[in-house]
Parts: sequence; structure tokens; C-alpha cells
Amino acid sequence: MSLTSKPKLFIPGPTHVEHEVLTAMSEYPIGHRSAAFSELYDDVIAGVAKILYTQNRIYLGTCTATGFMEAAVRNTVQKRCANFICGAFSKRWHQITKMCGIPCDPFEVEMGMANKPEAVEDALRTGKYDTVTVVHSETSTGVLNPLNEIAAVVKQFPHVVLLIDMVTSMASIKTEVDKLGIDVALAGVQKGWGIPPGIAFCSVSDRALARSENIQNKGFYFDFQVMEKYAKRSQTPTTPSISHMYAMQTQLKRIFNEGLEARFERHGKMAKQVRKWARDKFSLFAENGYESETVTCIKNSRGIDISDLLARLLKKGYVVSDGYGPLKGKTFRIAHMGDLLLNDIKEILSVLDETLLEMDA
Ligand SMILES: Cc1ncc(COP(=O)(O)O)c(C=O)c1O
Repeated sequence: MSLTSKPKLFIPGPTHVEHEVLTAMSEYPIGHRSAAFSELYDDVIAGVAKILYTQNRIYLGTCTATGFMEAAVRNTVQKRCANFICGAFSKRWHQITKMCGIPCDPFEVEMGMANKPEAVEDALRTGKYDTVTVVHSETSTGVLNPLNEIAAVVKQFPHVVLLIDMVTSMASIKTEVDKLGIDVALAGVQKGWGIPPGIAFCSVSDRALARSENIQNKGFYFDFQVMEKYAKRSQTPTTPSISHMYAMQTQLKRIFNEGLEARFERHGKMAKQVRKWARDKFSLFAENGYESETVTCIKNSRGIDISDLLARLLKKGYVVSDGYGPLKGKTFRIAHMGDLLLNDIKEILSVLDETLLEMDA
């Protein structure tokens, strides 16, 4: 099967990958302790830092985002963690925190609602917490949490470390890590980066790294201290997926050619188009004013058979997502992130219109 004969992905990960990026992955490997590797490493890391608007160190992991979700809590929580939950992935971060044996409490809102800064402030005022986890774009519900406002609240509590899952926002939604004071911002590459799954990145502030120094039993693979030691040499502690790093290098060039502001603007336009369609034909699941710029979760207000819709779309060469977990059948999701263009969005919406008409007939 040729690369182009696969159905086109409009799911919130893995996302559509451009040929040029896929081809870069077939580059002959180099030794990960060589000077050539360090050059590649520096290039990739500098690009990621630029996109995150940060001077913080960036670690590269050959893992998915979940690895760094675990690393983030294991390396930073000294007292107790407040996990803000608004859907399946933010709930997963609470589970991860618990399963690592770290003291933590969930602060949960109904699915479809956003975590609000007032709730963060109330939690932090108790004085019980030294760490907060928030998912920026909650992929399961299509909610974009008000990160600027939440970060402003956390800044009022100087001892509190802010950990952000940027899995479906990194490289798609403008997020100025240093300005917001985000201590750890993490994501894998198969979403907004438009690269096949396999590596992940996280930015780590000085104080997050300092926290890690005094925490015992973090294991080896995700210990920030170990990562730092190697990052200083422009290396990773263990053998990384060099193929993914080549893909990143190519993708970073493409991103900077497009221009960061243009990239973020394109995502805004795609989101607007999908939301307009969703409001006309169905309704939105996310709370008004808190809709994600990268994934739209559509309420099945017409009571259609979503599995039938998805099967029909697949036959036509398009993949759209069902609702996640308990939202399966009740919602479906269209992703508009990474390298998709407004024309791709117009195309999928027109195919959806045509398919819905067929289903009505
Ligand atoms: C918001 C969010 N966080 C975390 C994850 C977990 O990512 P991974 O499966 O790549 O580890 C996902 C996956 O879709 C996600 O959407």
C-alpha cells in the first residue's frame, strides 16, 4: 500500500503526517554518542524551545506523553498534588499520580465543563498543595482550559509548581511557557506536531529540576536528574528514536517556514469552521467559550448511529473519532491540528454533509 492510499486522519492523534516528514524518518541512523547526534539534538531542542517560548531546558523522551505525565509528578511533588480533572486524560493524570504512590486529590468538574481559576485558587488557599496538574486541551471533551487565568492564580502561590499536559495544544495553540510560569509542559509528537507516535518532549523549569533533586525513588528512565546530566551533553540518557528526531528536524523547518503566528492562526480558522458546522448540524459538547482550537467534540443531538457514520466515512477514505470512553455514541470528534489545512477541513465537512444525507435517505 502506498503512503497516500491510507485513509486521511481527522482524529485527535495520531494525526495526518506529511510525506516529507515520513520520508525524513527513513534517514540512515547515527550513533547517539556522536558529534553528529548532538548537532541533531541541539537543533531539535532549540526548535521546541522556540515554539514553547521558553528558556527552560527541554527533555526528549522515547516514550509517549504518558511517560512524561508520570515523570512530571514523580519529579516534582514533595507535599501533595492537586489534579484538576475535566475529562478522561486529566482523570488519567490523577490515576497516574495515585499509582506512583504520591499524595494527591482530584478536583473534578462535569465532563464538557472547563476547570476554572476560582477552583484552583480555592484549592491552593487550603495550603495543602505544592503541585498542580492541568490538561490544557482535554481531548476527550474538546474543552480548552483557561490556562492564562489558571497560571495567573498559581503565580500567586510561589511555592506551587504548575504541570501542564499540552498533548493536544503543543505546536498548535500559542502557549508562552515562561510568561505563564509553567514548570513542566509536556506532549508527544503524534498530535499537533504531525509526526508518527514515538517520542515526547517536556520543558522543565529550574525549580522543577531543583524539586527533583530531593525526591527519592524516581526510578531511572524518567529521573529529571539523569535527563539533565545527559541534556547538558546534548544527549539522551538512553538510545532515542533517531528516526523521529530526523522527522522533527524536518517538521521544525516546515513550521518555521509557515511562521509560528500563521500556524496558530491557521488552527484558529480550522476550529472556527468546524465549530460553525457542528453548531449548524448538531451542537457542541464543550462549554461555550471553552472550546479547543485543535479538537471539536460534537454532541450527537440528532441521535444518529455514530458507528455507522464512521464506517461510511472510512469507506470514503476519512477517519473521524467516536466519543471517548463514556461519551462513545453520545459524541464524535473531529480533530483540526498539526498539518491539516483549511481546505482539508472544508473537504471533511462536505463529505460529512454528503454522508449524513445518505444516512437520512
Ligand atoms: C490530553 C491528552 N493527554 C495525554 C494523552 C496520552 O497520550 P499518549 O497515549 O501518547 O501517551 C492523550 C492521548 O490522546 C491526550 O489527548
